[in-house]
Amino acid sequence: MHHLEGHLLSPLLSADPPRFPFVALLVSGGHTQLLRDDGVGRYALLGDTLDDAAGEAFDKSAKLLGLGYPGGPAIARLAAKGRAGRFALPRPMLRSDDLDFSFSGLKTAVLTQVRKGLADRQARADLAAELQAAIVEVLVCKALRALALTGLDRLVIAGGVGANAELRTRLQAAQAGSAIRVYFPEPELCTDNGAMIALAGCLRLAAGLPVQPPEHFDVRPRWPLEELAPAGAPASAFCPDPARREDQAD
Ligand SMILES: Nc1ncnc2c1ncn2[C@@H]1O[C@H](COP(=O)(O)OP(=O)(O)OP(=O)(O)O)[C@@H](O)[C@H]1O
Ligand SMILES: [Mg+2]
Repeated sequence: MHHLEGHLLSPLLSADPPRFPFVALLVSGGHTQLLRDDGVGRYALLGDTLDDAAGEAFDKSAKLLGLGYPGGPAIARLAAKGRAGRFALPRPMLRSDDLDFSFSGLKTAVLTQVRKGLADRQARADLAAELQAAIVEVLVCKALRALALTGLDRLVIAGGVGANAELRTRLQAAQAGSAIRVYFPEPELCTDNGAMIALAGCLRLAAGLPVQPPEHFDVRPRWPLEELAPAGAPASAFCPDPARREDQAD
């Protein structure tokens, strides 16, 4: 199985599953991608990170602040005691025309502040709040731009950073009073879990898509998600209705 396909389809296990097509913001520990998802196996990459993922920015900055792994929840807890705006961290690529991301500069900016010295506990909390605000602002801005560019109105969040409460609050605010609908899977479906891999395998089998037989098992790093759809396959074969999920599981 393609590990990211598991992340991408995990929201279908949620109590409030999205229907295809949708834009997915895939924010796991090692990936930050925007994808158009037209059905099982039918994925188009819209934007990607040029360097660190958002999760890595959380994890590496947490380490610089003396917090443990995973850094995302630790930064979020510290940020809750702080106030964004006291430190001015960059919003990388916020104004670029594309849907790409770059987060390595944020970690460097945090390092610079740490080296300058953080006067007290409040300063650490304020820096954590600013870091979280910077990451969330960029993610929300680019995700909304992806919706505008594709003309789709469903946005699905997948991957561990999707558990971030500030990200959820900001996206909820963006959808209020608009045609946009944002789907947040339960936090336990956001981080790595076995069920998402089982679901992806199940849906591929149900759609008649190829899966690797165990005797041909191979490890394939940097496997493009777009290669998962065999050329010429009818589009309808890829679009199971989430409401029929239980039938397919049978
Ligand atoms: N509440 C949170 N706020 C921000 N980040 C969070 C939160 N909870 C988890 N994370 C981040 O999510 C990441 C882990 O998510 P996940 O398990 O999806 O990644 P992964 O599966 O290890 O990465 P990949 O699939 O890309 O190899 C870590 O970077 C962690 O800091
Ligand atoms: Mg993962």
